[in-house]
Amino acid sequence: TSNQMWGGRFAAGPDAIMEAINASIGFDKRLAAQDIAGSRAHAAMLAATGIVDTSDAEAIREGLLTVLSEIKAGDFEFSTALEDIHMNVEARLKEIIGEPAGRLHTARSRNDQVATDFRLWVRDQCDAAEGGILALMKALLGQAEAGADWVMPGFTHLQTAQPVTWGHHMMAYVEMFSRDLSRMRDARKRMNESPLGAAALAGTGFPIDRQMTAEALGFDRPMANSLDAVSDRDFALEFLSVASICAMHLSRFAEELVIWSSAQFRFVTLSDRFSTGSSIMPQKKNPDAAELIRAKIGRIFGANVALLMVMKGLPLAYSKDMQEDKEQVFDAADNLMLALAAMEGMVKDMTANVANLETAAASGFSTATDLADWLVRETGLPFRDAHHVTGALVAMAEKKGCDLSDLSLEEMKSVNGTITEGIFDVLGVHNSVASRMSYGGTAPARVREQVARWKEILG
Ligand code: ARG
Repeated sequence: TSNQMWGGRFAAGPDAIMEAINASIGFDKRLAAQDIAGSRAHAAMLAATGIVDTSDAEAIREGLLTVLSEIKAGDFEFSTALEDIHMNVEARLKEIIGEPAGRLHTARSRNDQVATDFRLWVRDQCDAAEGGILALMKALLGQAEAGADWVMPGFTHLQTAQPVTWGHHMMAYVEMFSRDLSRMRDARKRMNESPLGAAALAGTGFPIDRQMTAEALGFDRPMANSLDAVSDRDFALEFLSVASICAMHLSRFAEELVIWSSAQFRFVTLSDRFSTGSSIMPQKKNPDAAELIRAKIGRIFGANVALLMVMKGLPLAYSKDMQEDKEQVFDAADNLMLALAAMEGMVKDMTANVANLETAAASGFSTATDLADWLVRETGLPFRDAHHVTGALVAMAEKKGCDLSDLSLEEMKSVNGTITEGIFDVLGVHNSVASRMSYGGTAPARVREQVARWKEILG
């Protein structure tokens, strides 16, 4: 049998393989709510402009609500023969209300319909991501507030660099995720224009009111060019790009949690609720959530690249290639939300092992820079020379197998005669972090300022 939507031109129905490659209902059923909202707005506009009788439009709008409730209740039979969500909904509408259903598609195409549905869906994901990021930021803020003055090693090259505070490290992520939040909001703002009414590609001869449908769907305005409206998926790409950057931040933090929870570091203990055991090794407590975040992030990057690949060779306007836009975005969005929620849970639950952090902070000659700075301040040595003197002291301590603070004043003086007792004051890790009062520095007082600032912003 030929197709009920375009059967007029066709003598035969599609091959089974054609149906299989063509159908998108298996995944685009996720757009059902957006599709019905778009159709209801379109029907109301058709009535308001006199294109369709008010009574027909009302029947359509009512019928669509019935379809929606059937889908929500799970007793809607999706048909592959009907290809996609748009035709599934319309066909069911016809079964429910009969002939007026055929008037819904006036002055509309599936091209502007799908562009509208997908924009609405991605817009919702921006909001969901915003919520997820905010919740994570609050969890980080809680950790930062608790540990504004706990000292830990700061690393460069994953080698001990200088002591930092736990709160400072947590607040670094608050800053990163705040930029993701801001990018998500920007993307949402830019995508919030309505493609509906672009029709197939050229607009329509019917006297439609695109402003009205745009408003009804919460868009700021109708898109200004009908070709652009049905052709571009940059809004989805922007979501994926922003999601990718956010995911990259999540993955770096996940990597740190994997390292920090290892027996060699023991910086943090992850809660049982966000860890798993081993089926063979009874002692194990594995940071699976962090590892899975780290891994799932790859799917988000992949989705971004995949959609760029789908789009890059397409002439204007719509090509069926664009049906391949959705699964990637669905998967990326699902995994971003999951990763944000899992990270929030882990951060909320994790316990910093404060004593271990402090021991680690003090090892590896982490206050060597403080020593060099002391030489500059107290003896007037140029920094380059102070660096050299300190290097010699580190070599001496390393040879003796002790810390810098374990060297005697005599030993220090043998390297540089101007050194005095006062130098020992700067070798402690608490002094070290407290001294770093430059704006943005790791001093507990600075961290508390930032915590207070963010608490006010986040409410
Ligand atoms: N299922 C299609 C998609 O996802 C809807 C648009 C179809 N338009 C068309 N001209 N075949 O892109």
